[in-house]
Amino acid sequence: MAKVPPGVGPQFPQVVVLFGATGDLAKRKLLPGLFHLASAGFIPGCRIIGVSLEDIDADGFREAARSALDAFFNRKVNASDWEAFAACLDYVPQSAGPAALKAAVDAARASLGVESRLLHYLSVPPSAALSAVRMLGEAQLVEQARIVMEKPFGVDLASAVALNSKLHEVFDEEQIFRIDHFLGKEPAQNILAFRFANGLFEPIWNRNFIDHIQIDVPETLGLGKRVGFYEQTGAYRDMVVTHLFQILAFIAMEPPTALEPAPISEEKNKVFRSMLPIQPADVVRGQYSGYRSEEGVDPQSETETFIALKCFIDNWRWAGVPFFLRTGKRLAEGQRIISIAFREPPKSMFPVGSGVGAQGPNHLTFDLADASKMSLSFYGKRPGPGMRLDKLSLQFAMHDTGLMGEVLEAYERLILDAMRGDRTLFTTADGIERLWQVSTQLLESPPPVRLYEQGSWGPKSIHQLIAPHAWRLPFERAWRAPNQSGA
Ligand code: BG6
Repeated sequence: MAKVPPGVGPQFPQVVVLFGATGDLAKRKLLPGLFHLASAGFIPGCRIIGVSLEDIDADGFREAARSALDAFFNRKVNASDWEAFAACLDYVPQSAGPAALKAAVDAARASLGVESRLLHYLSVPPSAALSAVRMLGEAQLVEQARIVMEKPFGVDLASAVALNSKLHEVFDEEQIFRIDHFLGKEPAQNILAFRFANGLFEPIWNRNFIDHIQIDVPETLGLGKRVGFYEQTGAYRDMVVTHLFQILAFIAMEPPTALEPAPISEEKNKVFRSMLPIQPADVVRGQYSGYRSEEGVDPQSETETFIALKCFIDNWRWAGVPFFLRTGKRLAEGQRIISIAFREPPKSMFPVGSGVGAQGPNHLTFDLADASKMSLSFYGKRPGPGMRLDKLSLQFAMHDTGLMGEVLEAYERLILDAMRGDRTLFTTADGIERLWQVSTQLLESPPPVRLYEQGSWGPKSIHQLIAPHAWRLPFERAWRAPNQSGA
C-alpha cells in the first residue's frame, strides 16, 4: 500500500455520521472508499456511525459493510485491515432519534481521547435530506462539524433556493460540502493541470481557434433499483445540471488567481453566469423503448432517460462556440469524453483527393475514464510517393505514468478533501442556483421525449442537433492500447 505523504490527511481524527448507510451509494462507493482511506492510513482513528431506516445493530451494519466490500472493493481486503475497520463501525437506527445519535457520537469522540471533528455524510434522497439535517440540529451535532450533501440540490430554482435556506437554518454555508463526484475524478482535475500548467494550449483556448466542444457521457447501464429516484429525476437533473455542467466549467473557465476554493468557484460561477438560457429547441430528450414497462415506472412516463443539447457561453472567450452535451442510459457504449474540435485551416495547397480534412478537424480529446487518456489528432503525410494525408494522433494514457495504483477513487478523494476542509472541488449554492436559472425555460417547456432503441446512440434527431458537425462517438479510430506496466 502506498505510503501517505505528510499533510495529506485531516488535521484531526474524524467521526463520520453516514446517513443512508445501508443504501446503494454507501455500498458501492462510500464504505469501500472509507475502508480504503482507513486501511491506507489517510484517516487514522476514524470512527464511522451508520444511520438508516433499517432496524439493525452495529453487528448488522458490520455485516452489511463486509458484504459491500466483498462486492465492490476492487482491491484485496486484508484480514487485519478489515478487523481494524470493523472495530471502528457503529450504528444507530434513524428511528432511535437524536438523543441516541448524540450518545453514539459522544462515545466515539470519547474513545478517540483526543480532539476530533465530525463529518456528516447525507447519502439519502432529497426528500430525506432535510429531516436528517433537523436530526443533526436537534442532536446538537453542528459545532465542529462539516456536512456533505449529495445531489440533486433541488429540482428547479425555487426548490434549490428553499433547500439552501433550510440548510442555512442549521449549518453555515462554510460547513456545507455539495459533492459532485465527477470533479473528484483524477482526469477531471487533470483538465486543470493540462490547461493551466502549460503554455501551449491556453493561447488557442478560445473562439478564434476552437470550433465546437462536445461533452459526451453515454452509459450502457440501466436503472436497476434506482427506478423510483430516476422516474422523478430524469437524465437532465441526474447528469447534466450536475456533472456535465461542472465539467464544462473546468473546460471553459478563465485562469483562477490561485488553486484555492474561492478563486476557482469564482471562475466557475462566472462561466455559469455567462451561460445563455438553455433553449428547448436546442434539446433532444429521449426515452429507451421498454422503460415504461419497467417496474415502478409510470406507463405514460415522460421522464427522459437520454438528453442531448446545445448550449452557449456568451463571453469574450466563447461567444458563438457551441457546446454539445449528451448522456443517457442503455446506450451503445459507456464512455466519458470531452472533445475539442479546432477550426480547420485553408486547405488550398493540397490537391483534390489528398485526404486533407477528410477525417474531420484536429481534435483534442480527454477520456475521463478511471484509467484516463488524452489524444491530439492531426494530419500527417502517409509514407511513400506523392502527398496523401492521414489522420494521426499523439496519445497519453495515465497508465504511462506508472502511478495508477496511487489514484484515489472520486468519492475517496472528495471525502478526504471534505475532512480536510478543502472545498476546491465542491460546488457552491450560488453556482447551483444559477444552473437552475438557465434551465428554467427547458424545465417549463420540455420538448417531447422520443423513443430510442436500447443499445443505440439515442433518438435520430441528435444528428440534426449537431449538424453540420458530427458526434465524435462512436470513435472512427480506436485508442492505442496503453502501456500496462504501471497498472
Ligand atoms: C451518478 C448518476 O451521479 O453518476 C448515475 O446518478 C450515473 O445515473 C453516475 O450512472 C455515473 O457516474 P460514474 O462515475 O459511474 O461515471
